[in-house]
Amino acid sequence: MSPVLNIQPHSSVNSKIPDLAIEDSQTVVIFGGTGDLTRRKLLPALFAMSEENRMPEAFRIIAFGRREYTQESFREEMADEIFKFQRVDGSKQDVNAFVQHLDYFKGSLDEMESFEALHKQMSDSSVYPQNRVFYLSTAPVFFGPVTEKLKGSGLVYNAPDEYWSRVVIEKPFGRDLESASALNQDILKLLDESQVYRIDHYLGKETVQNILSFRFANTIFEPVFNSQFVDHIQVTASETVGMESGRGAYFDTAGSLRDMMQNHLCQLLCLVTMEPPSGFASDAIRNEKVKVLQSIRVPALDDVRENMIRAQYAAGQMNGENVHAYVNEDRVPGDSRTETYVAAKFYIDNWRWSGVPMYLRTGKRMARKQTSITVQFKKPPMELFRTVECEHDVCDLTEAQPNMLTFRIQPDEGISLHFATKRPSMHMVVEDSELDFKYADHFRGTLPEAYERLLMDVMRGDATLFMRSDEVEAAWTIMDPVLRAWKERDSRIPLHFYAPGTWGPIAADELFEGVNGDWMNT
Ligand code: BG6
Repeated sequence: MSPVLNIQPHSSVNSKIPDLAIEDSQTVVIFGGTGDLTRRKLLPALFAMSEENRMPEAFRIIAFGRREYTQESFREEMADEIFKFQRVDGSKQDVNAFVQHLDYFKGSLDEMESFEALHKQMSDSSVYPQNRVFYLSTAPVFFGPVTEKLKGSGLVYNAPDEYWSRVVIEKPFGRDLESASALNQDILKLLDESQVYRIDHYLGKETVQNILSFRFANTIFEPVFNSQFVDHIQVTASETVGMESGRGAYFDTAGSLRDMMQNHLCQLLCLVTMEPPSGFASDAIRNEKVKVLQSIRVPALDDVRENMIRAQYAAGQMNGENVHAYVNEDRVPGDSRTETYVAAKFYIDNWRWSGVPMYLRTGKRMARKQTSITVQFKKPPMELFRTVECEHDVCDLTEAQPNMLTFRIQPDEGISLHFATKRPSMHMVVEDSELDFKYADHFRGTLPEAYERLLMDVMRGDATLFMRSDEVEAAWTIMDPVLRAWKERDSRIPLHFYAPGTWGPIAADELFEGVNGDWMNT
C-alpha cells in the first residue's frame, strides 16, 4: 500500500513551524503602568504571549505609576482589564496566575529617588531577572528625562554588558524635525542605538508584515511594481472614532499629520515601494526604508498649497447619532485649527517611482475604519474594449478598468486583485472582476495583536520592526515644511471642514486631477 501523507488543506497560524519563544529571563518595567495603553494593549499582549508559551521561564513585570495601590488591589484591577481585553480566551484562573508576575511600583517620573529605589528593588536577582526592558508608555515630554534617570540610576547597563537592557519609546517621537533630532541626540548620548526601540505599532500588524512577503516571496508582481506599469498608489487610514476618553487633550497638540501621517502612513508607503533588502536582518530592511524616505520630494510651499489638504470634522451624525464638531469635543479648545484629516500627494524621486503620484490620507470620524493600500496599474496602451451600452435612453461607456491590487490591512484583512473579464454575452463587453484573498478564510485562529509581536521582538532583541533614528528624522524632514506652511495661516492653504461619517472634504478629490483614478472608498 502506498503511504498516506496527512497533509492539511491549508496552512494555519498554528502551523508546523516551531513557534518563536523568548529565551532570556527578564524583567519588563512599564512607565505609565496604570495608563490606557498598559491596560488595553501591553498587559493583554504579555498575557497572550504567556498563554501561548512564548514567555521565558522566569519573567517579572513592574508597572511604574503615581497612583496609590497595594500589590493586591493593583493585580486585581489589572486582572479584570486583561480578562476584558485579551485576544486568547484565557480563563479567570489563567489571568489570576499571570498577574502573580506583576508588581506595582509607586514612583514619580520627575524624581531621581524613585529610580534609585526601583534600582534597589530590581537588584534582588532572586526575584527580578537581571535582563531589563523599560517601556516608556508616558507623555513624550518624559522620554528624554526618564532615559536620563534610567542611565543615572544605573538601571540601564552600558551595552554590551553581562546582562542587556533595552528601552522602548512610544510615539510620538518628536513633534518636528528639530525636536526629533534633539531627542535622538539626548537618547543616543546615553544609550547605544541597539538598545533603543522606537515603536510604530503599525509595523507589528500581521498584514503590514505581509506586504514584504507578498512582494518579495512572489515573482509575478515585483516586475510590474514600477513607474512603467503603476499609475499611482494610494494609502488610506480612515477611522470612525473621534476624541473619546479625553483624547482631545493629546490630539489637539498633534493633529493628523503628526499623529498618523508622519509615522504609520509613511511606514506603509515605505514597505510598498522599497527596494528588495539584501536579507532579512533588521538593518538591511531599515536601510531600504530610509532610502525611500530620503527620496520623497520634500514639499515646497507651492506643493503644500496644491498637494496637501487639511480638514476638521464639523458637527453632524454618525450611525443616526448626533456627534460634536471637533472644536466642541472634550478637552479641545473652541477655536482649535488642528486638522483631524489630511490628504497628500507625494512623489518619490527615484529610478523606480519617478513621476508616480503617491496618495496618502487619514482622518477621524470618517465613513468607516479602513486601512488599505491600493496599487493602481496603468490602462492598456490601446482601448480595444470601449462599448457604449444603453438602457432605455440612458447610455454608459463601458471600458476595461485598470488593474488594481489592494492590501486590506484592517479590517477584513486580505488582498484583492481587480482585472477585466469578458461578460458572457454575444457582445465583446468587459467588466471588472476580483480575485480576493481573505485571511479569515485561509488561516485558522485570530491574528496576533501588533503589540504582541512588538513586545516579543523587543524581548528577543530584534529591532527590524522598530524605527531607527535616521528613519524617524527622514520622515520628519518631509513633514516639516508642511507644518511650517500650515502655521503661517496662509489664506491659500485653507482648513476645510467635513461632515462626520463621510470620506472627508471634496477638496481632497481634486488631488486626483489629471490622474486616472479616485480615492478607493470601499
Ligand atoms: C495611534 C494614533 O498611533 O494609532 C491614534 O495615535 C489612532 O490616533 C491609532 O487612533 C490607530 O491605530 P489602529 O491600530 O486602530 O489603526
